[in-house]
Amino acid sequence: MKQSKESQALITVKNLSFRYDKELILDNINFTVAKGDFFTVTGPNGGGKSTLIKLILGLLPAKKGTIIKDSELQEALEIGYVPQNTNINLEFPISVLDVVMMGNGQKHKGALPLFNRTGYSKLEIECAKQSLARVGMEKYIESKISNLSGGQRQRVMIARAICSHPKLLILDEPTSSIDIQGQKEIYKLLKELNRDITILVITHDLTVISNYASRVLYINHTGYLHDLSEEHYKIDPNEHFCEVELMQQLGEKSE
Ligand SMILES: Nc1ncnc2c1ncn2[C@@H]1O[C@H](COP(=O)(O)OP(=O)(O)O)[C@@H](O)[C@H]1O
Ligand SMILES: [Mg+2]
Repeated sequence: MKQSKESQALITVKNLSFRYDKELILDNINFTVAKGDFFTVTGPNGGGKSTLIKLILGLLPAKKGTIIKDSELQEALEIGYVPQNTNINLEFPISVLDVVMMGNGQKHKGALPLFNRTGYSKLEIECAKQSLARVGMEKYIESKISNLSGGQRQRVMIARAICSHPKLLILDEPTSSIDIQGQKEIYKLLKELNRDITILVITHDLTVISNYASRVLYINHTGYLHDLSEEHYKIDPNEHFCEVELMQQLGEKSE
């Protein structure tokens, strides 16, 4: 359900600018992700979307401007992350369970590092099973990751990201290398997860933006935030839009 939510802000970005070296990559970005949002980020390649996510996650230092995280998100594991292009080496013989457990490692600080272990505890396996069940992959827990389809592998990556029960799930172009049917299923899954997890997803998929998103942030170095619950910005899913046209609209109009 599209709704403008003025409730609790999970992430507040204020006057954020960033450069890796000389070139300004992000120029004075401002937006808020509210609890319960299905928040989308879109815009051309090279515009700075992944950089923005890395700043939010603290993988890059925010030197200019501020990123305020709600106290719910203070612990790193309260944010689940599915990075762009997770190139799993398909020759590497790891199981679905192994991949999911990689997302859960820090939860057990007192335990031995995973690499020194011969197995997982019952509790850990139960936790992995639960998150695999949420993405419809519980039957594949013992499967080799190399035997799965692209869509199934991405589901496992999502299970990995939600294993620690995050409040916010961030996904960077999660369907870029998946067939159309697989893409639909992933977004249906994200919509279900959105019932109790706030979603922030980078996507070029217009159907997703028009049908699922509460807000869309268009980033091309500068940012434009659109509240899709407002009639003015409503995108009619029955009307044919080509990506170029929509991108142009999103890049021109702002609240
Ligand atoms: N680690 C890095 N060092 C220097 N420049 C980078 C680095 N990562 C990305 N860039 C540059 O920053 C710009 C934005 O990249 P990115 O955030 O990945 O854009 P997007 O995700 O929107 O495609 C690009 O010009 C890219 O080449
Ligand atoms: Mg990117």
